[in-house]
Amino acid sequence: MAEKHTHIIELKGIIKEYHPQKSFFSKGENKIVALNNINLGIKKGEIFGLVGQSGSGKTTMGRLLVKLEEPTKGTILLNKRPVTHLAGKALNNYRSRVQMIFQDPYQSLNPHLSISETILEPLKVHKIGTIVQRREKVIHTLETVGLLPGKDYYNRYPHQLSGGQRQRVAIARAIVLEPEFVVADEPTSMLDATIAIQLFKLLTRIRKEFNMTFLFITHNLAAAKYLCDRIAVIHEGNIVEVDSTNEIIGNPQHPYTKKLIQVQPGFHFNHLS
Ligand SMILES: Nc1ncnc2c1ncn2[C@@H]1O[C@H](COP(=O)(O)OP(=O)(O)OP(=O)(O)O)[C@@H](O)[C@H]1O
Ligand SMILES: [Mg+2]
Repeated sequence: MAEKHTHIIELKGIIKEYHPQKSFFSKGENKIVALNNINLGIKKGEIFGLVGQSGSGKTTMGRLLVKLEEPTKGTILLNKRPVTHLAGKALNNYRSRVQMIFQDPYQSLNPHLSISETILEPLKVHKIGTIVQRREKVIHTLETVGLLPGKDYYNRYPHQLSGGQRQRVAIARAIVLEPEFVVADEPTSMLDATIAIQLFKLLTRIRKEFNMTFLFITHNLAAAKYLCDRIAVIHEGNIVEVDSTNEIIGNPQHPYTKKLIQVQPGFHFNHLS
């Protein structure tokens, strides 16, 4: 199983700094180090958790991985190839292989597009299939994400769906191109616990069915425990600990990880299992 241990994504010495505009009151240099020398490898087929409190740099890492932003320093590799300065066709290709699911299903879907238009868009942009094949693919993907029967959702609009259903549409849009790697940024934090569990089960099934690799971003260690094979703990832009989920939860080494485990209420999440 050599393939299992191949890194699909690697971050090498990633630094991301922001320089917000100085206000009248701020003196000197106004610099935020959102990520401070990140070195990580994500293995093919795993669900890798990135856990940390608000402002620790989680979304920033996700945005760098899908190339919504560029790092200040360092290199990101997809299947051993640097992706830092991709342009044209190569960038287009990267965008079809790496996708992101965002936290807020109310904001991440365009309210003016029907569900089918939302999921068709990536197929159109990447010129995949005929009109008939695209329609079939959309219906099939709707059913994959549990919106059954798919044709009943085809012409609906986001406002006609619940939050959980919207997030399923966002997941459908992210997987319709069958990407290799998906960043899911707090995909359930706006939803009820029962809906969150259904979506975790869905992500687990998709991972298996398509052998997709996921980066699951969360502030909730219990959610990461439920879903992830390995976990990295991030604190103020630094990865303080990376290990298997069992080790992180059962045998945390870093004081910050220990603190996270202590402070998370309802951590054992018995109703999840
Ligand atoms: N475009 C930006 N300009 C300036 N600062 C930014 C920008 N984006 C993020 N930051 C800062 O970078 C740091 C990390 O932000 P980030 O959004 O990655 O945190 P997070 O871990 O996702 O937090 P949350 O759990 O609240 O979503 C924060 O201090 C944030 O204010
Ligand atoms: Mg965030």
